[in-house]
Parts: sequence; structure tokens; C-alpha cells
Amino acid sequence: MHPSRSLVLLVLLTGAAFGCRQDMHDQPVLEEYEASDFFADGRGDRMPIEGTVARGSWSADEAFSTGLVGDAFVTELPVAPTQEFLERGRDRYDIFCSPCHDRAGTGRGMIVRRGFKQPTSFHHPRLRAQPVGYFFDVMSRGFGEMSSYAPLVKAEDRWAIAAYVRALQLSQRVVLAELEPSARAAIEASMAEAEDPAATGEAHPETAGGNEHHD
Ligand code: HEC
Repeated sequence: MHPSRSLVLLVLLTGAAFGCRQDMHDQPVLEEYEASDFFADGRGDRMPIEGTVARGSWSADEAFSTGLVGDAFVTELPVAPTQEFLERGRDRYDIFCSPCHDRAGTGRGMIVRRGFKQPTSFHHPRLRAQPVGYFFDVMSRGFGEMSSYAPLVKAEDRWAIAAYVRALQLSQRVVLAELEPSARAAIEASMAEAEDPAATGEAHPETAGGNEHHD
């Protein structure tokens, strides 16, 4: 290449590198927390609008997301307790709670039998008297040695579990006279049968001591 030609090229290249306008690099942008005289309060940052809540940490329904209305625990389930919902509750309870509280809720699950603190039975009068929101609250925030289940179990499932815990409690205290006649007749028949297996002519190994619980 001719020397004068390479000089021209050099000038062009240097021009391209240094001669650009710098506007794009020097925009009047405020850094975080930087002061500014643009707004009357002198801050560069704008405060979030009052009542703003971080995404994902809020639900339109206070009772549903906290188990509380004001300072009081919710006394009625904020979700309709359908058969399916209760079955979901049993499924989640058996997975997440029964290892300590056991499947019947008496507080003698396998982890407890291996040395973890024994929780109070759900059938204790103190817990039978607790509103359903209390169970949601304990699961959501933890209780003493028990950690929070909010990171593992979403709110709707925590309600399903709370409903199922209530069902477990009721299951231990059925008042026969309060049942529908057909349900009552069925239970009375099975009770009579359990008392006298010979009456039906069927073998009942579980009532004959074959399946007793030995601790
Ligand atoms: C790893 C064992 C463990 C698991 C799993 C567990 N808990 Fe607990 N839970 C405990 C212990 C221990 C306590 C008592 C804590 C204390 O008194 O320090 C407790 C306390 C409670 C209480 C409060 C009882 C009271 O005395 O007022 C409720 C309600 C409860 N658990 C519900 C649940 C539910 C529902 C689940 C399932 C989502 C669950 N727990 C899972 C161990 C567990």
C-alpha cells in the first residue's frame, strides 16, 4: 500500500474511534439514592405508592392469605370444603404432617418415635377448641420447634390440610345421634358386628388381636 494511502486510512480509523458523539454515554440518568432537584422532595428515587406490596406476597383476601381477620383467627374455612378438597388435604397431611403428628393426629409419628419433640395431640381439648385459622397460622409461620410449611405447601393446600385436621378431630368425636339416619344405621351395624364377629359368620382377624399396636 502507498504510504500516503495508509495515512488516510489511519486518519479515517482514528476518526471513527474517537470522533463519535458522546451523547449516548452521558445521558442525564440518576443513580440509585442520588439527590435530584427535579422533584420537590429533593430525592432522585420515587417512593412506592402507598399500599404497594411486593409481587407474590399478597392475596386479595386477607383471611385466605393469613388465616386472620384483624387479630382474630378465621373460624370458617375460606375455601369450600368439597370432598375433593378434603381428599387433597388428607394427601398433603399424610405427606407433610404425619411423619410427626401421625396419620390420626395423636402426635406419635415416626420422627417423634425417633426422638423429636412430641407435639400435643390434635384431639386434646385445647386444640379441638382452636378455630381453623389457628392451624393455618401454625403451618404458615411455624410453632416452637416446628418450622414453617409456607415454603413447601402453598396457601390453598395449607387450607386443605387445616380442613382435614378438623375432619380428623371430628372423626374421633362423632355423636351418633347427630348423624343422618342412614349413616347412623351403618355405623351401628358395624359396631354390633365388631362386638360379635360370630353374628355375621365372618372372620375378623383385626379384632382377634392379629393387628394390635405394640410400642
Ligand atoms: C418434623 C416434625 C413435624 C412436622 C413434619 C409437622 N409438625 Fe406440627 N408440630 C411439631 C412439634 C414438635 C410441635 C410442637 C412444637 C413446640 O411445642 O415447640 C408442633 C406443633 C403443631 C401445632 C400446634 C400445636 C399446639 O400445641 O398449639 C399444630 C397445629 C401443628 N403442629 C400442625 C402441623 C401440621 C398441619 C403439619 C403439616 C403441614 C405439621 N404440624 C408438621 C412437629 C411437626
